[in-house]
Amino acid sequence: MRRILAAAAAAALALTCGAVAAAGPALAVDDGLALTPPMGFNDWNAFGCDVSEDLIKQTADLFVSEGLKDAGYTYVNIDDCWSLKDRDPDTGRLVPDPVKFPSGIAGTADYVHSKGLKLGIYGDAGTNTCAGYPGSLGHETLDAQTLAGWGVDYLKYDNCYNQSDGTQADYVRRYTTMRDALAATGRPIVFSICEWGTTQPWTWGADVGHLWRTTGDISDNWPSLRSIIRQNAPLAPYAGPGHWNDPDMLEIGNGGMTPAEYRTHMSMWAMMAAPLIIGTDLRSASAETLAILTNREIIGIDQDRLGVAGRVVSDTDGLMVLDKPLANGEHAIALYNSTDVLATVGTALGKGRAWRLQDAWTGAVTQARTRVEAAVPPHGTVVYKVRPLNDPGPVAPSVVVGAEIGTVTPATAIPLTSTVANRGAGSLTDVRVGVTAPSGWTVTADTSSRARSLATDATLVTSWTARAPEAVTAGTYALPVTASYIWGNRHRSSTASTLVVTVVTPPPGGTRYLSTVRAADFSNASGPIELDQTNGGSAPGDGNLITVGGHVYTRGIGTSAPSSIRYYLGGSCSSLTTDVGVSTGDAASFTVYADDAVAASATVAAGDAPQTLTADLTGVNWLRLAATSAGTADADWAAPILTCGSGGPVQPVERTLFSFEGGTDGFTIANAGGGGSVETTGAFHTDGDSGLLVHTPVNGNWFGRALDAPLDLSGTSMLKFDMRVETAGSVGEIAVQVGDAFTWCQGGQWTWSNPGGSKTITRSFGDISCPAGVTLDPSDIRAVWVYLNTGGDVSIDNVRAE
Ligand code: GLA
Repeated sequence: MRRILAAAAAAALALTCGAVAAAGPALAVDDGLALTPPMGFNDWNAFGCDVSEDLIKQTADLFVSEGLKDAGYTYVNIDDCWSLKDRDPDTGRLVPDPVKFPSGIAGTADYVHSKGLKLGIYGDAGTNTCAGYPGSLGHETLDAQTLAGWGVDYLKYDNCYNQSDGTQADYVRRYTTMRDALAATGRPIVFSICEWGTTQPWTWGADVGHLWRTTGDISDNWPSLRSIIRQNAPLAPYAGPGHWNDPDMLEIGNGGMTPAEYRTHMSMWAMMAAPLIIGTDLRSASAETLAILTNREIIGIDQDRLGVAGRVVSDTDGLMVLDKPLANGEHAIALYNSTDVLATVGTALGKGRAWRLQDAWTGAVTQARTRVEAAVPPHGTVVYKVRPLNDPGPVAPSVVVGAEIGTVTPATAIPLTSTVANRGAGSLTDVRVGVTAPSGWTVTADTSSRARSLATDATLVTSWTARAPEAVTAGTYALPVTASYIWGNRHRSSTASTLVVTVVTPPPGGTRYLSTVRAADFSNASGPIELDQTNGGSAPGDGNLITVGGHVYTRGIGTSAPSSIRYYLGGSCSSLTTDVGVSTGDAASFTVYADDAVAASATVAAGDAPQTLTADLTGVNWLRLAATSAGTADADWAAPILTCGSGGPVQPVERTLFSFEGGTDGFTIANAGGGGSVETTGAFHTDGDSGLLVHTPVNGNWFGRALDAPLDLSGTSMLKFDMRVETAGSVGEIAVQVGDAFTWCQGGQWTWSNPGGSKTITRSFGDISCPAGVTLDPSDIRAVWVYLNTGGDVSIDNVRAE
């Protein structure tokens, strides 16, 4: 160990002081397992409860055939829902579901082992697993013996139904009991603590398990990824061989993020020395997904035997630099841009003639003198492996091309700035920079776009004016910025970055809910601005129906103060009318700005009735909605109506089909034997004074009705209704019957993750699928049904078409 540290220190960059010392406490569980972060697969992110022996075996096969095993992936892990709901009445043992696992876990393990791989499974340090299967609390010894007897090599141990008093001591006790039970079996089993970071497991986990979750569950979207990186990165000093921070499993390939975001996911997990547990369906994974998951350089950084998690060198304005020392003396440096615009990210290098930078994704090699730096696309990460370089002469210099531009509106002059920086040792000569404009645009240089020479660390800054045509359509446009230059006196090279520009156009004439109008930009204290719901936290779509002073709104904009949203009106609108109020938190002040002048304002305390604001917007170019609070507040703009041009009825027009004002509107149960019942309720309504209360059976049933006469919903494209649900995990779906044959078409399943929360469920006809040969004809609807399970109560109101 000492020899490795000395090698690393010799090459240490000035920026790394202290990092190498963070080799962490001694191997705590000290059993030689997980000396590098575990690599494998787990079904949960892609399949939820839909796990099976077939899936696990197919995944093991794919580990071999797709080169994943060769790349280091070893553990094929089963998550929740693998057992029966009851233990064996005679032995008290957990029983694998014989339908899902016909060969049992033992047979599945044998198969996985025959491929040279290892099998993982899931359990829970409570009375039940999160999905309601038997937990191991009080059964630790028997369950550890059972799992070991089956040949299990890895246990992810969850924290639902934990019967805990919430103290860290109780958490340590519950997880330690299973640690000891596993150890007593004598089988080497990686122990993965999954208590979601609740009691700071990084402070105690190294003595108890090989890895510990540091956060709540990941989901397949950018705000989730960004928030987890932010929480996990600072915990680097706690990780080391045999004991790792676990920021949760990979979402790469699941479709909710862009390739650049998935590369950030992989890059940052490697830099944080996180477990690499694939969470996608490998049977249908694209070549691009497999390429990301098997990138040897990135995996090498994750699996580096020094086992030091990357230290946060800097973290400013959404730009983060991590430094991970490697066993061979090199350093992996990540330049991570969590902002929504192209940004230059970098950090100083130590003394030395020059440094060799190898891009871990592209393989390109460049040299830098004093800074490692890159222009990083939005949500992207550049990873360099860095080591000293004695002779930079033959190596291409690191040239960084940055650019900035604001929001573009049609036919207006927008300033654009480009910056070309020479970070290499040695001068550049004949430097020229150009911006490629989309067709119909003009981009002209206002200052010089050429430099005769650029010495090390000199920059060429050019001001430009960009102008989009009058008829430009709203959206994003790519403007490549390219620098061409000569280095080493004779090599002509170029470096390019892509500036992504947002164009906003005025809303068309008409009267519409502002939640249907695209904002030019926004800022918000937490997560995204939410449309037609409150701001629930960091993830998109995690809020509730806006409820202010007892009034429930199905339309509006949910923010978290301080927040600011801008809309471009281009002088074509006349007024905004909106209710304002606070759904949770402290009092908030709401201000409507018309071209920077205050047009209306109000302050509303939590629990107060909403106030109505009206703003005159005649001739106004920019509308801005701002909310502030002395504390924290979910500040809502409820039923905001914008009038442009000659006005008209409020768009989008909805048509209520069932409002439950006079009772249950005929809603019944589809399958009489399946259980459940309905009644009218005054407790939840989004239209009128009453809604429908559904008592749902555990195994689910369809609630709704066959219609007396065919319903013609031509001209509408979706069904909507408002719901409040008391139980997490509740699953729902929608169905219609169409045509004379009353053909059953269903789809659009959702899983409720927000107990006690409310939402508008929206399903387009395209989400609902019919049997082969039948198309869903909205003009001939014969019945409307909603499927619900869990056994809890669900309230529904205002079933409508839009
Ligand atoms: C919890 C865990 C998840 C997953 C589910 C299974 O939410 O954090 O990773 O295992 O339970 O129910």
